[in-house]
Amino acid sequence: MTLRLGVNIDHVATIRNARGGAHPDPVRAARQAAESGADGITAHLREDRRHITDQDIDRLMAEIELPLNLEMATTEEMLEIALRHKPHAVCLVPEKREERTTEGGLDVAAGHNHIAPYVRQLADSGIRVSLFIEPDPVQIAVAEAMGAAVVELHTGAYCEAALAGDGAEVKRHLELIRAGAVEAHKRGLEVHAGHGLTYDTVKPVAAIPEIIELNIGHFLIGEAIFRGLREAVTTMRGLMVEARRS
Ligand code: PXP
Repeated sequence: MTLRLGVNIDHVATIRNARGGAHPDPVRAARQAAESGADGITAHLREDRRHITDQDIDRLMAEIELPLNLEMATTEEMLEIALRHKPHAVCLVPEKREERTTEGGLDVAAGHNHIAPYVRQLADSGIRVSLFIEPDPVQIAVAEAMGAAVVELHTGAYCEAALAGDGAEVKRHLELIRAGAVEAHKRGLEVHAGHGLTYDTVKPVAAIPEIIELNIGHFLIGEAIFRGLREAVTTMRGLMVEARRS
């Protein structure tokens, strides 16, 4: 199975919004990512609109040919927006206003009764539904029972351990991701992964054969400051291909 790269362009909008106005334009970034070999564009429309705005979603849908993976919280407002736009995929994520980023997977086991109707309505309208969860067998089983097509396994704890230089924790988290990917694949779920991935951490995750998509944002946009977005995306893609080959 080939490995797709979804480029998350949220933080182009973060920089734009620091000054207001239109520059830098996340849609232009999406276009460059597409030209550089990305397979999809990911954008998180947060409730507080701190980066991506409603107008960005309108434009991404109208101007970009690559499939859009819309990340969103399970709220009525977001559901209405998703059903109106019908993006290729919706990834349901937990969201707290006080957090800086998505700090952990969606607890689909505890939140079953709240989340299941969102999965159903989105899936019924033809949208591919992904659940952003921890690589945990209980969460994976509930995701399957809910009728999600995809699970995206949260790689944040693995990347944090790598940043801290804690080899034992890196190994432990990687093993959890590996086992989670095997379990989800066995249950017929499509397996994605993401959060916090960098040039240094991408290869062991990319090497897991059951994973068919990585969604990467913050590092690529940061790296683009130094090397340009095209080169950042091309380099990341190259590392993914290398990992898959070996
Ligand atoms: N996948 C999901 C579901 C996310 O919420 C995020 C962050 O918005 C990412 C992937 C990308 O994470 P990062 O920006 O750390 O690469």
